Amino acid sequence: MAAMAAVSAAGVMGTVMPSSASSSYSSSPSSFWGSSSAKSLGTFGGSAAGFCSRSSVLRRASPAQSVARSQQNGRGTATQALDGSSPHLAAASNTVLSADGVSSLATATKTVLDAPSDTVAHEYQGSIGDVTSNEQTVSITVVGASGDLAKKKIFPALFALYYEGCLPKHFTIFGYARSKMTDAELREMISGTLTCRIDQRENCGDKTEKFLQRCFYHSGQYSSEENFRQLDVELKKHEGGRVSNRLFYLSIPPNIFVDVARSASRGSSSTRGWTRVIVEKPFGRDSESSAELTRGLKQYLTEEQIYRIDHYLGKELVENLSILRFSNLVFEPLWSRQYIRNVQLIFSEDFGTEGRGGYFDNYGIIRDIMQNHLLQILALFAMEPPVSLDAEDIRNEKVKVLRSMRPVHIEDVVIGQYKGHTRGGVHYPAYTDDKTVPNNSLTPTFAAAALFIDNARWDSVPFLMKAGKALHRKGAEIRVQFRHVPGNLYKRSFGTDLDQATNELVIRVQPDEAIYLKINNKVPGLGMRLDRSTLNLHYADRYSHEIPDAYERLLLDAIEGERRLFIRSDELDAAWSLFTPLLKELEEKKVAPELYPYGSRGPVGAHYLAAKYHVRWGDMNAEPPPDYSKYRQTFLKLSSGGDPCLSPA
Ligand code: BG6
Repeated sequence: MAAMAAVSAAGVMGTVMPSSASSSYSSSPSSFWGSSSAKSLGTFGGSAAGFCSRSSVLRRASPAQSVARSQQNGRGTATQALDGSSPHLAAASNTVLSADGVSSLATATKTVLDAPSDTVAHEYQGSIGDVTSNEQTVSITVVGASGDLAKKKIFPALFALYYEGCLPKHFTIFGYARSKMTDAELREMISGTLTCRIDQRENCGDKTEKFLQRCFYHSGQYSSEENFRQLDVELKKHEGGRVSNRLFYLSIPPNIFVDVARSASRGSSSTRGWTRVIVEKPFGRDSESSAELTRGLKQYLTEEQIYRIDHYLGKELVENLSILRFSNLVFEPLWSRQYIRNVQLIFSEDFGTEGRGGYFDNYGIIRDIMQNHLLQILALFAMEPPVSLDAEDIRNEKVKVLRSMRPVHIEDVVIGQYKGHTRGGVHYPAYTDDKTVPNNSLTPTFAAAALFIDNARWDSVPFLMKAGKALHRKGAEIRVQFRHVPGNLYKRSFGTDLDQATNELVIRVQPDEAIYLKINNKVPGLGMRLDRSTLNLHYADRYSHEIPDAYERLLLDAIEGERRLFIRSDELDAAWSLFTPLLKELEEKKVAPELYPYGSRGPVGAHYLAAKYHVRWGDMNAEPPPDYSKYRQTFLKLSSGGDPCLSPA
């Protein structure tokens, strides 16, 4: 209620339609469930190709269903169903809920229209009534348009969506930043990073040109309401009287998020459509600063309007995690302490923080990667089956897992920092060689940690996380190591190292996406020799089409009002609660990171940490997808070694 009051007082961004309506762009209640989002984009006017069509399982709940679910969950108000709704709408919907406990859009509409304020009635008619008769448009404003993220990720992702026919027919893209720039200069700037992803795609040049014609620039200060009002005028010119839906991507440092939220909400939020704001980490440095940021944003935005991005959730194999688990009978029954010995979440980069030292030194690898990317994957991996695929149901389960986690003890953490190293005549710099990093910096560029989930499913299963920069390879993967086979009849064939004989499921998020399962197999022949082999779903072999960038999926979701892959504020709080005490202790005690050479496998301490829990890091003997020639060589070697039972194929 306090939040609501604050929201009302400050005036929340925009007048907004219910989220489901916004995603389907149709007035027909049945169409909320009707067809896939692809069809809804069709309604929108886009030529949605198969590329961006979503499975019917991702159809979103109707407002009535969402409201009912919110009630069932005991946590919600109708605001959850009303995406970014105005306080008037939220209040009206709450009235409906408390009056008869049965939510229906029609009743909600009536309640709003009966409300004393003409504004309310107007708002609601604008957001519902006109949808049926008016064409829709989406305006995407990239605030901080000249920054690296915008250039490297956001504009290219928008272009890819356009190229694939996923953007609506009527859309406009605006770049907003302080520097003076013309539209032509913006186009010139972003054209350098637009790719058709696969060389020689059809009409690339033509599509690039058409896309660039839809991009415009507006220069302004981040805290100037006046400048955002001018932007509003510009946006309106392009929206041409259509129902205007507005997405703001804040590609700016978090210390100016609130300024922009204020100026944009007052100056250029939509009055006849939805207004949504995407923000990207860092969301503070700890629980307190994160809560302050959330409070600041919520003065001007409702929770439903805030889309907190964690781009790892947009990665194909992370998205696939739930499908793997919940739609294959063979996996879900194994997904517990009964069969799983440990889970490893591994992130490594083969380059340092060159060029980003200033930012990185204030955060370190735990805040940069573990508290968000790896923890989000962990939550998805470990959550209980959600009631449905509705965003709130999934996020409820993620929060539960995060809140069941044991505080991370400093004894269960190893930190490291890379030092300079010369290899093959090339010198690789130390972290502290960066001019923007203090010489005596203790900021970790590597960390390994053992985490535990104190619930019935995962009691005493170590979840080992490892993240590092300037390591020997680049990759992100999830490794699930299964328990030993009890009373294994074949244990003599494996020798003393029984670990070698356990099954391991690897979900290689990147690069070279794959899901493979290590099994034990008999080497063909008349003998009885066992072999570790791999059942491998190697994406490049299985699927001919390219894998979209995470930002493409997430931008499309934000346009469609799909919040499943965005972080809710209570998820964020839970994530910070887990890591804040550890971060404070590391900083207060000035724990010195273990130095490791640039390009190495990281600090030795990480192995001791794993050994403490009888675990071996699976990536240390990282195996590529099966290379049959390698097996053949082993095979030939063995057979030439005189094993009479082996016969070369
Ligand atoms: C970002 C981190 O969130 O993710 C960077 O701030 C890191 O430090 C990046 O390099 C990795 O993302 P990706 O998609 O390249 O693996």
